Formats: sequence, C-alpha cells, structure tokens
Amino acid sequence: MKKGFVFDLDGVITDTAKYHFIAWQALAEELGITIDLAFNEQLKGISRMESLERILAFGHQAEKFTEQEKQALAEKKNTHYVELLQSLTPNDLLPGVKAFLDQAKALNIPCAIASASKNAPFILEKLGVKEDFQAIVDPNTLSKGKPDPEIFIKACQLIQVQPSDAIGFEDAQAGIQGIKAAGMYAIGVSVGEPLDGADQIIHSFTEITAKELQQR
Ligand code: BG6
Ligand code: MG
Repeated sequence: MKKGFVFDLDGVITDTAKYHFIAWQALAEELGITIDLAFNEQLKGISRMESLERILAFGHQAEKFTEQEKQALAEKKNTHYVELLQSLTPNDLLPGVKAFLDQAKALNIPCAIASASKNAPFILEKLGVKEDFQAIVDPNTLSKGKPDPEIFIKACQLIQVQPSDAIGFEDAQAGIQGIKAAGMYAIGVSVGEPLDGADQIIHSFTEITAKELQQR
C-alpha cells in the first residue's frame, strides 16, 4: 500500500524544459557556444550551476571564468528564464496532472515536490497548484543533487512517509536513479526518450489513477 507521492516539477507537472532551453541557448550564444535540444536532455534534473558548468565544458570554456563571473552568468540566465515563466497559467499543467492531484487529496495521500529548481514555489503558484502539495523540498538545503537520493529521502521525511511506501515521478534519467536509490517505486514520465530503471513508464497522468497506484 503506497502512502505518499513525490513529484519532480519540470517535465512532470509542467513543461518548462523548453523555457530552460531558450534561456540557456541565448546565454550560450553570447559566449559563442551552440547547444541543441539533444544537448538540453543532459541538463534535465541538473542544478543551475551544474548546467552552466556542463555548457562551459561543452564549449571548452570551463577554465575561462571566475566563480563570481559564473554566478553572474547563471543569474543572467535565470532572469531571462523567470521572464519567460511570467506567461505560465493553469493551462500549462501537463494533461491529467490536476485530476491526479485531486484524486490524491480525496484519498488523503500527501504529495511533495522534489525539484532541483529554486523557482519551484513560483512556478507552482503560477500553475495554481501550490496548495495541492504538502511539502516542497528547498534545494538550498541539499548537499548533493540528483542522481543522489537525498532530495527524494527529504521529500518523504517532509510528508512523513517511508520511502518504501512512496512513489516518485520523474522525467529525467538522473531522477529515476535517485528515486530507486532512495528505495521508492519509480514512475518515469516519458514522451519518447528512454528512462532506464523505472518500475513503470507513462506518457501522461491521464493513463493512471491515484487509487490504482495506492495498491502498488
Ligand atoms: C530542474 C530542471 O527541475 O531544475 C533543470 O530539470 C534545472 O533543467 C534545475 O537546471 C534548476 O532550475 P532553476 O529554476 O533553479 O534554475
Ligand atoms: Mg524534470
């Protein structure tokens, strides 16, 4: 019997990967680095600074900037990204998400967000679902990012559910690894790309109900 649900945000609740990509691509262009959508896949689930490091390494510019300059570059990308987020509305929830959250609420199953994004509370507010989550892990409190299980273990603690009694939802390979390493049941949300190690793959939340998952 499962007693808690833990969700990644970007790519699971809403499709913000496209906005991350637009903002990273613009910054990379300024630095003379060209990134494409295939490269963007690598940035899913990875923190802002780690994403910047990967882009700089890809462009052979890893050694070019001081720590302070890198902070400024990441801040610039984030300002652009937050501008793009202003247009988000509840219509940007991925299909079936709101119905699934309502089902969880009716069953008294607590829900938590385990996202590397420092913009998660703002995004959830724009989507009109912030109140549907009993906990949002603050990525500033973590010592390691995904694929480390820390964020998922913390989410389970916040909703007072044992990891073995929780289900995690992820669209990134690093996230699936983290969920499994935490000892949870992993559902991969995939629109085509392979997700190794997931216990179950769905394309959208319209394919599942909270009631049937409670029995897993
Ligand atoms: C994750 C995204 O959810 O959040 C990553 O998949 C992103 O692509 C990370 O880098 C950090 O997001 P933010 O909003 O704190 O820059
Ligand atoms: Mg994601």
